[in-house]
Amino acid sequence: MNNKRKNNNIKQKRKTTTVKRKKRRLRKGRVLLVLLLFIFIIVTIKFISYLIYNHNIYNTITNNKTNIAKINIKKDKLKLSNKNINYINKNLDKIKIKNDDTIITILGKNVKNNMNLDFTIYNKKIKNKNFNNSKSLYIENNSTLKKSINLKIKLPGYLRRNNIVDIYGVDNKEQIKIIKKSVNIKDKYVTFNLSKKYSKYFITYVKVTDIKIDSDIEVLKKEELNFKIKYEPTASTIKEVTYDNLGDNFVMRNDNLVAKKIGKFKITLKVKNSNIKKNVNIIVKENNPKIEKKDGLTYVNGILIVNKTYSLPKDYDPGSLKKETVNAYNKMKEAAKKDNINLFIASGYRSYETQDELYNYYVKIDGKKKADTYSARPGFSEHQTGYAMDLNIVDSSFEGTPEAIWIANNSYKYGFIIRYPKGKESITGYKYEPWHVRYLGKELAKKVYDSNLTLEEYLNIESKYSSSD
Ligand code: DAL
Ligand code: ZN
Repeated sequence: MNNKRKNNNIKQKRKTTTVKRKKRRLRKGRVLLVLLLFIFIIVTIKFISYLIYNHNIYNTITNNKTNIAKINIKKDKLKLSNKNINYINKNLDKIKIKNDDTIITILGKNVKNNMNLDFTIYNKKIKNKNFNNSKSLYIENNSTLKKSINLKIKLPGYLRRNNIVDIYGVDNKEQIKIIKKSVNIKDKYVTFNLSKKYSKYFITYVKVTDIKIDSDIEVLKKEELNFKIKYEPTASTIKEVTYDNLGDNFVMRNDNLVAKKIGKFKITLKVKNSNIKKNVNIIVKENNPKIEKKDGLTYVNGILIVNKTYSLPKDYDPGSLKKETVNAYNKMKEAAKKDNINLFIASGYRSYETQDELYNYYVKIDGKKKADTYSARPGFSEHQTGYAMDLNIVDSSFEGTPEAIWIANNSYKYGFIIRYPKGKESITGYKYEPWHVRYLGKELAKKVYDSNLTLEEYLNIESKYSSSD
């Protein structure tokens, strides 16, 4: 009896477990079904939006069930018109409109009520000799803008390939004006200001088709080569060349070539981002200075020179700074003032006698050898010419001050050069003096400044005392 009951109990238990299992399986199946349905819905939505996107059926943008913009897309044309723009201001920071090539983002900041935005954007070939039939992204702007707005535009592939583009505006008189030159494309986008000043804009890359350059160029040894290159078309985006076949006859200085040896050399100029090449013959000649003596004064290529090699007679005494030095200094002082820099003359003209006293004082405290590194012997100081002066602080602490930096960067514009530059002690014969300037006139000062050479190097002359006493 007991056994029978036991058996019945076991049977009952087995039954219940099977029912439970069945129920669990059913629940699992339902969850799976819901999940599949969910995935199906997502895929369908994605697919529909894919269809919408690709077939350009998308003709309204809605926000809070309110139409705020109407867009009509025709092939590669995209037109946005908006009659209810205040919604952009209130509820949307920006609208994005997509087609295959272009995304326009209108930033809401300057967008005002009752403003009518109306753009047409398309790809177009520009038939203009300056633009060389280049393919461009064209933007026609019929908007009624009170203020300018920013447009961020994704560029089509043919412009992205160059990594760099130009942006032009066309005004109401059909004049083409450059707005941004050589803009680096960031993440395929460019941003620019759209104003009512221009009815059309175009973004383009203009390839160089040819360059014109003298086939023979003459330079002096150590002089920087200044190629005068004419690029065609003149609106070319990148006007830059690289050099080939230099051997060890040339070195680069400040992005320019400098001839190291005397002779005739053929080098190749290659236009960046193109296949255009040109060969140029460079004739490098010795820099032979023309040295003339007149009343005991030395003129090198017509310039009065005083250094450790070329001295002045004891009785040479202009009495003060030369008129042209003072005039140029006054102009420089005025310009410096506008940059909040106060310039003053610490030491201007010095007579032979004053220099004699000064030099002998320095010899007494530092000895002759050291004094010769920073003070000129009587008759050998540029201060005696009336063309030299010390500005502000005559001390090594002057180096690196805003005043010293201003002088280094600007004095050439007024006709002065820093006569004893840093690191050129063995050439000028003197330590670095950021305060000592020499008047040469605007033209020559600019040439010397651009050359990055000392006056001695520029003229190919020496600065050495003939005796040690
Ligand atoms: N300090 C400069 C070299 C001079 O004495 O003329
Ligand atoms: Zn000086």
